[in-house]
Amino acid sequence: MDYGWLLFLFIAHLIDYSSVSALFVTDISVPEIVDFRDNVTLSCSYDMRGHTLNSVKWYKDHEEFFRYSPLASPIYMTFGVPGLQVLDGKYLCNESSCRLDLSLQGARSTGLYKCEVSGDAPHFKLADKADNMTVAALPQSDPLIESFNSMYRMEEFLSATCSSDYSSLPTRLTWYINGEQPLLGELQPTIDTSIPAHDYVLRRQRLQVHFYLQGQRFYQAGKILELKCVAEIENYPELRRETSLSASLSQFDNLNNQMLIHAGTNSGAAQRSRAWATTSLISAWLVTLFLALCFRRPS
Ligand SMILES: *[C@@H]1O[C@H](CO)[C@@H](O)[C@H](O)[C@H]1NC(C)=O
Ligand SMILES: *[C@@H]1O[C@H](CO)[C@@H](O)[C@H](O)[C@H]1NC(C)=O
Ligand SMILES: *[C@@H]1O[C@H](CO)[C@@H](O)[C@H](O)[C@H]1NC(C)=O
Repeated sequence: MDYGWLLFLFIAHLIDYSSVSALFVTDISVPEIVDFRDNVTLSCSYDMRGHTLNSVKWYKDHEEFFRYSPLASPIYMTFGVPGLQVLDGKYLCNESSCRLDLSLQGARSTGLYKCEVSGDAPHFKLADKADNMTVAALPQSDPLIESFNSMYRMEEFLSATCSSDYSSLPTRLTWYINGEQPLLGELQPTIDTSIPAHDYVLRRQRLQVHFYLQGQRFYQAGKILELKCVAEIENYPELRRETSLSASLSQFDNLNNQMLIHAGTNSGAAQRSRAWATTSLISAWLVTLFLALCFRRPS
């Protein structure tokens, strides 16, 4: 045996080695964040590149909880792991993909979920992919707007409160008045309430906005006042929730440059507006009279 033959064997081995290492996991689907009350579906797909599939194993934090071995009996096996339960009969795997449904057990279900695929003898090549899943108490409803009426007048004082739903993740509330954020001083400090439940500390935010219905924000907006409250959770834009309510607004009349006053109103603001309207009307009369006198003089 000469060196040429040894070299040939060595290269043949390298080629063989590279071809068997081609097995890989192409995709893993693990939800990034879920509510602890939900069931979740995990799935994984792989490319065997002509190799025989020996097994697909699922791990949570390095503990195996599920195995698919098409060449063995039984084909499917589940193992007890703290924080999750594989749902009976809710799994389906084959040579190219493997999916399963789990029920969760609160915060303990948070962890790293890994799908590992192995090829058959003689090489038993391994490939894997993993993703983190956070299990939290997520808000179940949109924010709630309280003490908002369906009708307002210009100059009136408005005060409304927005509350987020309870959640184990910190929530931030933002108000929008006709699409714009309130001015400084129109917001009260946020009130944070917390209660322990389901192994979590659940928190709720309440934010009050208050302002007079005066200024450009309202004159330009037509006869509608829209209040919107947005509840956002940091790092998870997909969990954003919002509520908008609108009210009709007794409006500034551009044509006569005076306030339209609804019959039967007697608030201070309305009286001020009425006095102002009368003054404008008298001024307009005086101007007309003056102009009329000017034009008559030359004739
Ligand atoms: C989760 O799955 C179990 C078993 O199929 C079912 O009884 C339960 O209602 C499911 N829960 C949810 C929130 O879908
Ligand atoms: C494997 O199962 C998936 C559904 O889970 C299916 O879409 C796919 O066609 C199957 N592949 C083979 C090779 O049977
Ligand atoms: C999972 O989370 C851990 C801890 O936060 C982090 O170190 C790791 O890189 C994450 N893994 C993946 C695959 O995102």
